[in-house]
Amino acid sequence: MAWNGLVDRYRDRLPVGDAPAVTLLEGNTPLIEAPRLATALGLGEDGLDVRVLLKYEGLNPTGSFKDRGMCVAMTVAVARGATAVICASTGNTSAAAAAYAARAGLRAFVIVPEGNIALGKLSQAVIHGATVLAVDGNFDDAYRVVSGVAELRDVTVVNSINPDRLQGQKTAAFEICEVLDAAPDYHFLPVGNAGNISAYWMGYREYNEAGFSAGLPRMMGFQAAGAAPIVEGHPVADPSTLASAIRIGNPVSWKKAEAARDESGGVIEAVTDDEILEAYSLLASSEGVFAEPASAASVAGLRKLAQEGRIDEKTTVVCTLTGHGLKDPDNAIAVCPAPLRVSADVDKALVAMGL
Ligand code: F0G
Repeated sequence: MAWNGLVDRYRDRLPVGDAPAVTLLEGNTPLIEAPRLATALGLGEDGLDVRVLLKYEGLNPTGSFKDRGMCVAMTVAVARGATAVICASTGNTSAAAAAYAARAGLRAFVIVPEGNIALGKLSQAVIHGATVLAVDGNFDDAYRVVSGVAELRDVTVVNSINPDRLQGQKTAAFEICEVLDAAPDYHFLPVGNAGNISAYWMGYREYNEAGFSAGLPRMMGFQAAGAAPIVEGHPVADPSTLASAIRIGNPVSWKKAEAARDESGGVIEAVTDDEILEAYSLLASSEGVFAEPASAASVAGLRKLAQEGRIDEKTTVVCTLTGHGLKDPDNAIAVCPAPLRVSADVDKALVAMGL
């Protein structure tokens, strides 16, 4: 059956009425078995017999999970007669907002922290025709500007404060339940502005209450150690992490994320940049799946809990990989050895290859 995007598939569970969909055919992303990763973490068949799967959201149209939320937010905005949208972003939201605004024929304004968003994401925002403002400050400063502008002018905010965004993002949980025929036991994901963990929890609960899926997962959120306000219990004035997508000191959906954690019996903890980078390389080299550093926070969290003996045997674990690795290739180049330089000669190549 052809896939026609989220609104077509889940219209009766989304706040869109009969509005025409603004869609780039987002969603329906693969849930990839990760047996090598499981083995590397001591969780595989020889270990605790834990099944590890990757929800690869980097395969959405603009390369991140934001497309799910933007599809619904933009569909609703157009139906209400909006002419312009605005968001603050560490990169992916701006890429998705710019693309879906172009699709819908709306103006897009995006406000980003200057010098702190990956080049791939910036390239998306500009090529899709958004007006991009780079502010001297971090995401939280950019978000304050967005709120201020939205108070004064008729622009629709498409950050995750907009409930339509979370409605769209909850559909990833539906898809997982459909593939597994039940909810997983654990769901690991990175936490930045804290919308996505809240959206997944909403999706899992909704499918469970509708009788479509058995069980509920423990929601396992991971912040970067230098940008871990929820873990520390207070806003972080100057968040820092190389995982620029989750460099956020005062998340908008803080309370919702805590509720998801507490209601599900999960955790929100921190992983260091070194742990994120190790997981980033391990994921790409063990499974052939390239996700951006912030996404690897989910795998880093799983690795940490596996090492601490905190994953129950014979369970199912899903890690969301929120954004594609190609968004931010600089980090891959930085953590890997440079290509071996050889002259174009078979014998020299064999030596270099150790064959
Ligand atoms: N992973 C990636 C790749 C992201 O871009 C983000 C958030 C997150 C994880 C965290 O998700 O905010 O729902 O907790 N990026 C936002 C942006 C902030 O502006 O693109 P969250």
